[in-house]
Amino acid sequence: MNERRPAISETPQRRLGKDLLSLAPIPAPDVLRLLQVARDLKAAPRQSPSSYLLTGMTLGLLFEKPSTRTRVSFEAGMNQLGGQSLFLDFEKIQLSRGESLSDTAQVLSRYLDGLVIRTFEQATLEEWARHTSIPVINGLTDLGHPCQALADLMTIWEKMDCLKGLKLAYIGDGNNVANSLLEASVKVGMHIAIGCPRGFEPDPHIVAQAQMEARQTGGSAVITHDPLDAANGADVVYTDVWTSMGQEQDQARRLTALAGYQVNDQLMNEAKPSAIVLHCLPAHRGEEITASVLDGPQSVVLDQAENRLHVQKAILAEWIGHSSS
Ligand code: CP
Ligand code: NVA
Repeated sequence: MNERRPAISETPQRRLGKDLLSLAPIPAPDVLRLLQVARDLKAAPRQSPSSYLLTGMTLGLLFEKPSTRTRVSFEAGMNQLGGQSLFLDFEKIQLSRGESLSDTAQVLSRYLDGLVIRTFEQATLEEWARHTSIPVINGLTDLGHPCQALADLMTIWEKMDCLKGLKLAYIGDGNNVANSLLEASVKVGMHIAIGCPRGFEPDPHIVAQAQMEARQTGGSAVITHDPLDAANGADVVYTDVWTSMGQEQDQARRLTALAGYQVNDQLMNEAKPSAIVLHCLPAHRGEEITASVLDGPQSVVLDQAENRLHVQKAILAEWIGHSSS
């Protein structure tokens, strides 16, 4: 079996730990290496040796929230690497009838080679990781979205030809996507400015960690309540929805509080003329971003969505491919 699974990289197995729960513990050179693997996989023809990397392996996807990109790109990526995936509808497994997380996790570990989980609390994800013997990958929690942030870095690198020294302006709600972008961007020496209303700042612990890490990488992480200030001179402008999954009851308050934090033509005038626009999608045109910007010439959101596939193949190769070979 091993000769049919050529190692994509020569790193020791599980060098990055059993699970991918957040980007915080991943050293910067490993982030860059993952991005390079993703770019190599993107350039590789479907029938390359990597097509056999995960032959015979099965990835479970356990989602407590809706998903288009994460689910489909992981399933397609697993297929392209020779493995299979199994979507586990939370409502259709015994967990929804009271079976314990611990029993479920231990049983699934006997069948599967890895598990992507989309859930609410980061603590729940951590509990899955503790009770499984297989790698657990964060497919989004209320705290973070690391796979998205890696695809975002890959997209920026592709489009701008570099990462270090670039300014990324994130405008809007300091949510899970903002948290992971903070972790990711400072690692590679970028300058991130988050423009958000008071009370909508990213997680304070992640901000503090990012500011500490930025001191070592030459990057910076700034939180401001002035969106135009955040966007000023930016190479990359990023936004995400104002109401994340699970916050629907708070929607009216959010729409009011975030109304001045829209990515529109006026805000884009503050960024460099060469700036690109990112959005993790799904988007709400007319709320966090206007159609003129999302569908305009600076937007690279479809390439960004495509890169979820490539970056997650690199993640699967690293965490699943190396976990039992
Ligand atoms: N960006 C993202 O994670 O999209 P989905 O919710 O469709 O997976
Ligand atoms: N912040 C959004 C991201 C969706 C991909 C949410 O959590 O709903």
